[in-house]
Amino acid sequence: MAEKTHGNRILLVEDTVFLAETYKEYLRDEHYEIVCAETGKEAYAAIDECMPDAILLDLVLPDINGLEILEHIAENEIPIAVVVITAHGSINTAVEAMRFGAFDFLAKPVTSERLVVTLRNALEYQRLTTIVDTYKNDIDRREYYGFIGSSLSMQAVYRIIDSVSASKATVFITGESGTGKEICAEAIHDNSPRSDKPFIAINCGAIPKDLMESEIFGHAKGSFTGAIADRDGAAKLADGGTLFLDEICEMEQSLQTKLLRFVQTESFQKVGGSKLEKVDIRIICATNRDPQAEVKEGRFREDLFYRLHVVPIHLPPLSEREDDALDIARYFLRQYAREEGKDFEEFSAEAEAAISSYSWPGNVRQLQNAIRNIVVLNDGDEVAGYMLPPPLDAVLSGSRDFGTIDRVADTGASGGQPAVGGQAPLIRPLAEVEREVIERAIAICGGNIPKAAQHLGISASTIYRKKTAWEDCEDAA
Ligand SMILES: Nc1ncnc2c1ncn2[C@@H]1O[C@H](COP(=O)(O)OP(=O)(O)OP(=O)(O)O)[C@@H](O)[C@H]1O
Ligand SMILES: [Mg+2]
Repeated sequence: MAEKTHGNRILLVEDTVFLAETYKEYLRDEHYEIVCAETGKEAYAAIDECMPDAILLDLVLPDINGLEILEHIAENEIPIAVVVITAHGSINTAVEAMRFGAFDFLAKPVTSERLVVTLRNALEYQRLTTIVDTYKNDIDRREYYGFIGSSLSMQAVYRIIDSVSASKATVFITGESGTGKEICAEAIHDNSPRSDKPFIAINCGAIPKDLMESEIFGHAKGSFTGAIADRDGAAKLADGGTLFLDEICEMEQSLQTKLLRFVQTESFQKVGGSKLEKVDIRIICATNRDPQAEVKEGRFREDLFYRLHVVPIHLPPLSEREDDALDIARYFLRQYAREEGKDFEEFSAEAEAAISSYSWPGNVRQLQNAIRNIVVLNDGDEVAGYMLPPPLDAVLSGSRDFGTIDRVADTGASGGQPAVGGQAPLIRPLAEVEREVIERAIAICGGNIPKAAQHLGISASTIYRKKTAWEDCEDAA
């Protein structure tokens, strides 16, 4: 493949030699590197091999319609600006070309000035687009397809999705329940050249075992009671697109064998069918189990596992995503408020602290449910601490066993000062309550005193001073 450094390589696709020579002559002073193709076939080869920055494309070619080339470039998001040459007066073709993503068009006869200016613009546009794309991939993304979150661990996930999408390689997604495995599968499909073909999801855990084979491969009429007609399965429906096998570890052993054959050959037979059918699909699977442990325990075929485990993607639990929980909470607060006709716009500092420090064992799904609950059951424009549903409210209920805040929250049990008869005392010394509130804030902020001070609305030096005073007190006692 040719090395490309200048950003001034032009592919001229024109079957009339005289015209091609004329255009070259018009562009002589521009010092472009011009590659010529006379047919569609030659044009495709040149696109692959010399990576032009812009194409001057005559739509009438001996072997294909030039629009096909345009479509190919758009579909595969090949970074080339296309300038289309149309016959004089064929405005419909020009409009169609623009709809297919052409940068501009030139109607015949093409003048030297128009050709020069249009190509200069096309190259400049392409140069800027390339810069933007480079930055887009480099900067931290706060949202990505269905995902919200800018944590480092999610940036890594976005980058893997970016790089794996274009290929057909099988992706194996792992992650706890509610971490977004389905969103991840959809993101890969939407980001791939197959995005305009079907995305078919099959939940291997939700379908009765005896129906599973027919769900995936389809069945022939009369193959079992109730099979009143031929029916296509997911494998056929996903032809050209993506087949998502969710909860793959729940698949029965005998079907695992059939799946292995299918993955190896891309061909299958319907249940009760005799014809071998061939398809072109991309497989993505997901599980919230540990697949290697399933293999070790003999519940999942090792050979199938290695066939499927080509590109692994692990979705981290929400508790390992820095401040993502808050960003996701804010997003859903606004969305649900809109849906429910409420005014909520933000969280109080107390509610934010609880959301950030809670461990979210049910991950994003649990967070979503909590926010929905808050919006449905309350009114106002700010979510106050008292609106938090259990077990989130336990994070705020005065536990002094700060190291176990998450555990307390998980079980829904609230901590609190033991008191006579198991009741909290009605009145407690202010200094004691103050110390408790400050220590809880520090614990919630993961030991970060300046952050705790910010949430408490006091200065960090006040906290440092008070801490010293408490320690002095303890030493004296
Ligand atoms: N990063 C995220 N940003 C916004 N919404 C998310 C994110 N991750 C997941 N969700 C939402 O959380 C819910 C759960 O996601 P999803 O169904 O993809 O999880 P899962 O890992 O497949 O869970 P399970 O193992 O239980 O099937 C969905 O409603 C999804 O839209
Ligand atoms: Mg799922």
